[in-house]
Amino acid sequence: MSGQTELFSPPAQDGQALAAMQIEELRAQLTRWAHAYYVLDAPSVPDGEYDRVYQQLERLEAAHPALITPDSPTQRVLGSVLPGLAAVRHAVPMLSIRTETDTEATGAQAFDARIRRELGLAEGDPPVEYIAEPKFDGLAMNLRYEQGRLVQAATRGDGELGEDVTHAIRTIRQIPLSLQGEQVPPVIEVRGEVYMRGADFERLNQRQQAAGEKLFVNPRNAAAGAVRQLDARIAAQRPLSFFAYGLGEVTPPEQGGPRFATHYALLQRLKSWGFPVAAEARIAHGAAELAAFHRAMGAQRAALPYGIDGVVYKVNGLALQRQLGFVTREPRWAVAHKYPPQEMVTTVQAIDVQVGRTGKLTPVARLAPVFVGGATVTNATLHNLFELRRKRVRVGDAVIVRRAGDVIPEVLGRVEEGAVRQPYVPNFHMPRACPVCGSAVVREPGETDHRCSGGLFCGAQRKQALLHFASRKAMDIEGLGEKLVDQLVDQDILHSLPGIYGLQVDQLAGLDRMGEKSAQNLCDALEKSKHTTLARFLYALGIRNVGEATAKDLARHFGQLDALLAADVDALMQVNDVGPVVAESIRTFFAQPHNTEVVQQLRAAGVRWSEAAPAAAARLPLAGKTVVLTGQLPTLSRDAAKDLLEAAGAKVAGSVSKKTSYVVAGAEAGSKLAKAQALGLPVLDEEGLRRLLAKEPD
Ligand code: IVH
Repeated sequence: MSGQTELFSPPAQDGQALAAMQIEELRAQLTRWAHAYYVLDAPSVPDGEYDRVYQQLERLEAAHPALITPDSPTQRVLGSVLPGLAAVRHAVPMLSIRTETDTEATGAQAFDARIRRELGLAEGDPPVEYIAEPKFDGLAMNLRYEQGRLVQAATRGDGELGEDVTHAIRTIRQIPLSLQGEQVPPVIEVRGEVYMRGADFERLNQRQQAAGEKLFVNPRNAAAGAVRQLDARIAAQRPLSFFAYGLGEVTPPEQGGPRFATHYALLQRLKSWGFPVAAEARIAHGAAELAAFHRAMGAQRAALPYGIDGVVYKVNGLALQRQLGFVTREPRWAVAHKYPPQEMVTTVQAIDVQVGRTGKLTPVARLAPVFVGGATVTNATLHNLFELRRKRVRVGDAVIVRRAGDVIPEVLGRVEEGAVRQPYVPNFHMPRACPVCGSAVVREPGETDHRCSGGLFCGAQRKQALLHFASRKAMDIEGLGEKLVDQLVDQDILHSLPGIYGLQVDQLAGLDRMGEKSAQNLCDALEKSKHTTLARFLYALGIRNVGEATAKDLARHFGQLDALLAADVDALMQVNDVGPVVAESIRTFFAQPHNTEVVQQLRAAGVRWSEAAPAAAARLPLAGKTVVLTGQLPTLSRDAAKDLLEAAGAKVAGSVSKKTSYVVAGAEAGSKLAKAQALGLPVLDEEGLRRLLAKEPD
């Protein structure tokens, strides 16, 4: 390792005392770095540096086993598998919160009115100060620290008795094993929610699937399973996260414990001790601001990296909280204000099959109508035959249906508990013939999807292919939408893609919802679309595995369509990001005479683009570089900067990572710039960007 010296030279003969100091310093440093990485999401050193110091600590500890303590960063995953989980009696009961079932703004008004009444406030009195927080969808956890060290983690259980899950919770990198900073009380219990991020859940399920293990239904269930894992080594493989939001038992102020005036101050202190606290928490005054928070979080919900099922309102002043007190098991000073649930249970009435653009057959469950995710759902996808089999879904079953944001509703799984299955329900089978065109249904070896082999002969595929061809990022034919395509195919007017360019005004004008004027507009749009780019044209053809980005790469690499048509698999794999699967899809597509015929007919109909000299991608100045744009540049719009960079061979990415080559930052650049600086990446302004674009290739 050139130029890098170890922070400490190995211990000499007077070892123990010196080693103890070194070990302590290394632990403090690793803890700070891990906090920056896992909690602040702002790495302060490169991963390699962290690993180097971690290994140095491991070596020192191996040489001095007597100095190993359970709060060392090397000791997150502890040895043996537990026989079971021990019961834990909570020093302070873990309460639940009253839920405001009404999901509109009136939920916030009802809570505020109750608080004002309890506090004896009159109409003219000032608004009450609240904290509004997300209601995390995970499991409540009590973390007990003594002398600043994590000694026990327990689930909520029934509120009085929970389960000891310390071994599993220690593996969560966001949870400090020892508290940072000053003013650490002798005893403090921190309460919060253990959860799994959406992206971590997806990755976990992909891993499970690859290993042939069972899949988890949702992030909540995956988190609950991981927490109750008896083997810490397995728990450590399940990516869990944590948010702190409250306290349990704490040393009283007169014995050296902390004194907080507000819940907000408490959250700030939790943060300074090293806990993740939701950045979304806000102070709100009165019902209107609570309702605004409920609305704002609702709008952000789908984009949040963690799942929420509502928001929580809490009276901010802790003296007021004490004054308000409790009713049975619920505090009067807090309420949960829910969103319409994104998951509901309903029954499967039938299982049908739908045919998509590429001929993929998707099993779809027809459901007893259910209101979920803010809409009534009657159909939900089962993805493919293997998913359906894995979930063991049959007609008559009670199932969990999920609808989140604009995502297509899906069947997550069967409700197993207490389910009574109707006898003699036949298992679902994929049809042998396409339900739309009757062509043979095939499944290639190693593939999960069944496909109709009818190609554009199949009406379902033809409709989807036409819509894709006309879509904005493809040929961009304005006015050629779903309703129109349905009519054109169902009435046997359109049989092929090139047929689009033969459509006549009088033919169109007779169709449903089409007047003379809109028919003329469509014909104009068709004419206009003929002048396009090679990238758009390739994308529009709907070749399997060729998305917008790949189409651009192909166009850039080959410059001319005929060069692409002549390329074999090896030549195709020279293109940026094209591997064997994509190359094979492209070859297979152009090997079929009817596809090359479509291409010829489209060209004959006048579809054209300006062909460029083939640019060997490696000769472009920024080939192989990844660039992130952030903030507002003085003269270039974001799209213009992106186009320039892509034309120079660079890939433009949305987020900063170790792999980023350059970050181009303009005015009001935020966290991306901070992250770039933390990672020590080169940061350019517009001037620097222009110099970079003018550069000769490396
Ligand atoms: S405070 C006395 N804050 O909701 C109030 N709870 O029924 C104690 N939850 O099981 C809870 N997000 O796990 C609080 N920001 C938040 C929360 C939250 C989720 C869960 C908690 C508890 C349930 C309350």
